[in-house]
Amino acid sequence: MNNRIAVVPGSFDPPTLGHIDVIARAASLYDELHVLVVHNPDKQAMLPIAQRLTLLEQSIAEAGIGENIIVASWSVGLLVDYAEDVNAGVLIKGIRSQVDVAYETPMAIVNRHLAHVETVFLLPDPSHALVSSSLVRQVAALGGDVSPFVPGPVARFLDPGKDSIES
Ligand code: PNS
Repeated sequence: MNNRIAVVPGSFDPPTLGHIDVIARAASLYDELHVLVVHNPDKQAMLPIAQRLTLLEQSIAEAGIGENIIVASWSVGLLVDYAEDVNAGVLIKGIRSQVDVAYETPMAIVNRHLAHVETVFLLPDPSHALVSSSLVRQVAALGGDVSPFVPGPVARFLDPGKDSIES
């Protein structure tokens, strides 16, 4: 496993500004970064995986950080199977609070037992500390403005009407 190759896994349903912040930090630390959309059976999905991939690609392009980033999805098998396939020695998780630490720590330990991959926790900018995909899903479903919390391509996709009114 190559410790210069890392994977940022997540549901990304939808991608938020917090995700893009963590992806940008990780891309600057590693030679090759895989942003991996993983189906999470514990969560009721809003967007199909293909749509999340498109929105991630567009958001990464908009942020101008795509040089060493590969966007992919994984729906069969373990996350560490993908890491082994691409020879990645590191998993990256964004940590907003103690709640995230409690959620991520058991997964990090299990993944290290399964495949000797290390998990690195990155701290996003504090301005993103309260943003989550689940809150964005709720605001969008109830007709609220999600544009302060998500990249431009995601805001335009979730609320195409708003864009045409303003332009
Ligand atoms: O954005 P999320 O939903 O918090 O991401 C969680 C995710 C998808 C990264 C996590 O559920 C995961 O790693 N799933 C893959 C299945 C797996 O490998 N499970 C065993 C190790 S914990």
